[in-house]
Amino acid sequence: MTGSVVDRLLARPEWQFATVLPKAAATLAAFWWLLLILRGLLPAGFAIAMGYLITAVQTQASLVAPLAAVAVVFLGLQILAPLHLVISKNLGSRTAAWLYDQLAGLCVTPTGIGHLEDPALTTDLSMARDFDLGITGPPLAVSMDFIAAGLVEFVGGVAATIVVAFFSPLAALLLAGSWLATHWLLRESAVWKDRNTDEVREAQRHADYSFRVAVDPPAAKELRLFGLSEWIVDRFSERRRRLYELRWEATRLREKSMIWSLLVVVAANLVVFGMLAQAAMAGSIELGQMVTFASAAVSTSMIAFGGLSWALDGASAPAAAVLRLQTTMAGKGALGIGSRSADALPAQSIRFRNVSFAYPSSSEQVLENFDLTIPAGSSLAIVGQNGAGKTTLAKLLCRLYDPASGTIEVDGIDLRELEPVSWRHRLTAVFQDFIRFEWSLRDNVAPAGDASDEQILDSLADAGAGNLADLDTPLAKAYVGGTDLSGGQWQRVALARALCAVRSGAGVVLLDEPTAQLDVRGEAEIFSRLLAQTRSCTTILISHRFSTVRQADRICVLEEGRVIELGTHDELIALDGRYCRMFSLQAERFNESKELAEQEGFDVLD
Ligand SMILES: Nc1ncnc2c1ncn2[C@@H]1O[C@H](COP(=O)(O)OP(=O)(O)OP(=O)(O)O)[C@@H](O)[C@H]1O
Ligand SMILES: [Mg+2]
Repeated sequence: MTGSVVDRLLARPEWQFATVLPKAAATLAAFWWLLLILRGLLPAGFAIAMGYLITAVQTQASLVAPLAAVAVVFLGLQILAPLHLVISKNLGSRTAAWLYDQLAGLCVTPTGIGHLEDPALTTDLSMARDFDLGITGPPLAVSMDFIAAGLVEFVGGVAATIVVAFFSPLAALLLAGSWLATHWLLRESAVWKDRNTDEVREAQRHADYSFRVAVDPPAAKELRLFGLSEWIVDRFSERRRRLYELRWEATRLREKSMIWSLLVVVAANLVVFGMLAQAAMAGSIELGQMVTFASAAVSTSMIAFGGLSWALDGASAPAAAVLRLQTTMAGKGALGIGSRSADALPAQSIRFRNVSFAYPSSSEQVLENFDLTIPAGSSLAIVGQNGAGKTTLAKLLCRLYDPASGTIEVDGIDLRELEPVSWRHRLTAVFQDFIRFEWSLRDNVAPAGDASDEQILDSLADAGAGNLADLDTPLAKAYVGGTDLSGGQWQRVALARALCAVRSGAGVVLLDEPTAQLDVRGEAEIFSRLLAQTRSCTTILISHRFSTVRQADRICVLEEGRVIELGTHDELIALDGRYCRMFSLQAERFNESKELAEQEGFDVLD
């Protein structure tokens, strides 16, 4: 029983938040708590000092000590609050930074990427990611002071109750009980804690997304083209209204609870002040004590106004989310880590042996008993319809996920036995949705910083991006001296990144639609250069462009997660199957366009 209450308390987000503070900044946190307690003790100290002073006046004793006590408390009241504010700000910033550091680590550390795609984690992830941006509440550097103020009041209320207990434990119990009851009556029954329900978070996500669509550049074109400007503003307002309604519902005070709270508090105060009056009349307490106990009795009300607050609520939820993610994310993204070096692999082959796979978030099998052998040093093209599973194969080979069953073997060694960093050093890829870093051209081509300028420039030249920009030019307009690139130019930069990795030792090259955005001349030219540069590598090319595909040593046609045809271009044409039909269709179209272009007098490639 006691265990479960303690467990419940330890699991509370507020407690989790408290555990984060010393991790973020131990000394600052210790000072923050120390000042918090000192500030909390001041109102009770003031009541005692005033009583002491009045007694001294009454008994005509020396006023030096009582006046000094009043002065110390008064000075404390003046000095501690601003000092605490500065510490709160600093501690808030440090705690936010610590939480962000943790989150960044949690996202990038796991070997796989399943933890970033699991819907069960997205609520915690988005809350932890956005909490300090000022969208859901003030940043932690600001709200720490509100949190401190709430806790100071609570400590003050408790200290005042202890002072009242010297008059009468019953009176202390009555007052503390009645003011504590307001927490229960007004907050717990008024579903204060329900500000963080899934419904509120979902509404928050909708509101945030509509806002981002309205203000961020990516949707700017569609908003104008489809005449959606007013629609998106209305949609954002509507989603935000819904969020506010839900939050208001969650935090409003219930009328009935208000009346009950008032009744309980008024009754308790009547009884206690009656007891005080009676004691004063009976002469059992002095005037000085009377002043101390009466002002302490008033101060017990701080129990009601302090303690849990919206600020603590707003800071605790993301802190608890980060701590939760520490266990969940590591588990979801974890893949067994082998210890064998992948140096010089593959020397013989890469083999998918009976591989089946479904994404963690779905039950649909993307690959089923998939079998394929790729001889080392050869090039293989994979073709197939949208959604056939081509990119998924590439992700499995990069070991971003592990197969549900079956194995991927490199020279007969299960990929899971290889040390992931060593394997990834042997591998490079241009993904279909490759990353465009808002950094310099140099950092885009060699992000790990392990290539010389000469290697970078050679790679750019091989990718047909030799004259794109200076190596130090930031590739985003938002930065001073920055420039933006066209879709095809970006693709060349991504190709240069892969070629640069080959120069640094990669032996397996994965190209997922590497020429989709290149013009026809560029495609033919770049692809033959690419093949020349990666001649000693095992190259896997995924493409819908058959003029590129046919240059590969072998071609694999993928359908619904299975290999349905495999062979050289000539073999597959002779087979007169799916590949042959797809190839002929595209060639026919190309020839039609070529004829048309020639009629119009354009320069056409063969
Ligand atoms: N991260 C993911 N989570 C869940 N399902 C996914 C994920 N990525 C892809 N899928 C699903 O897996 C299937 C195969 O996707 P994949 O991206 O491998 O196709 P593809 O052959 O590369 O298609 P395309 O030619 O359009 O690039 C699709 O049905 C897709 O909806
Ligand atoms: Mg794909």
